[in-house]
Amino acid sequence: MKILIIGASGTIGKAVAENLKDQHELITANYNSGEVQVDLSSIDSIKAMFDQIGSVDAVISAAGLANFGALAEQSDDDYQLALNNKLMGQVNLLRYGRQFINSGGSITLTSGILSRQPFPGSASVSMVNGALESFARAAALELENLRINVVAPAFVKETMELMGMDSGSGISAADTARAYRVAVEGDMNGKTLDVTDHI
Ligand SMILES: NC(=O)c1ccc[n+]([C@@H]2O[C@H](COP(=O)([O-])OP(=O)(O)OC[C@H]3O[C@@H](n4cnc5c(N)ncnc54)[C@H](OP(=O)(O)O)[C@@H]3O)[C@@H](O)[C@H]2O)c1
Repeated sequence: MKILIIGASGTIGKAVAENLKDQHELITANYNSGEVQVDLSSIDSIKAMFDQIGSVDAVISAAGLANFGALAEQSDDDYQLALNNKLMGQVNLLRYGRQFINSGGSITLTSGILSRQPFPGSASVSMVNGALESFARAAALELENLRINVVAPAFVKETMELMGMDSGSGISAADTARAYRVAVEGDMNGKTLDVTDHI
């Protein structure tokens, strides 16, 4: 399959590319690097990316920005970032990218376990994660010959290490990547794949 990976230079995206590279043709799109550059928060940038790449069999998004912060301290900008980048950026990949995905193809977006297992400081992140999962469940009812699914990663070991946290409870990026492969190669539609079910 010809697969476009957005966020392929990130902790999760790199592992997804590594997992898929032997069996599929990959095109990478990151913010600063990759074969194509894209800004998820810009519809024009998303359109330009698809115009440049043309048709693909699958799209994977392993990107999406949102800030953690106490409920009392989250600013309007924090909410706008979560809404415009992580939520609408990925929703717009489907809205503007669907015509470029070949019949029988798929799009896989990224939410996170915080939709179902929040912690203090995760409100805006949990909000958009839940919205992405609901969007996919509903959009799947109307898509023909195109599947949409969401992968909900747990805290990734490498990310915890980068943050100076104890990574004992984390799931490696390589293990996280398996759920993306299942979403692309499987036949599910409208589902949220919990990475812990695919290790
Ligand atoms: N890591 C975790 O523990 C974890 C857990 C649950 C959910 N998630 C979710 O998984 C996704 C990926 O997380 P990650 O930790 O792998 O992220 P990451 O390491 O920070 O990588 C982010 C990726 O997104 C790209 N990117 C940044 N800003 C962008 C923009 N405006 N438009 C398009 N692409 C942009 C980056 O490109 P450049 O390298 O060019 O900047 C990079 O490829 C996010 O949605 C995150 O919320 C992560």
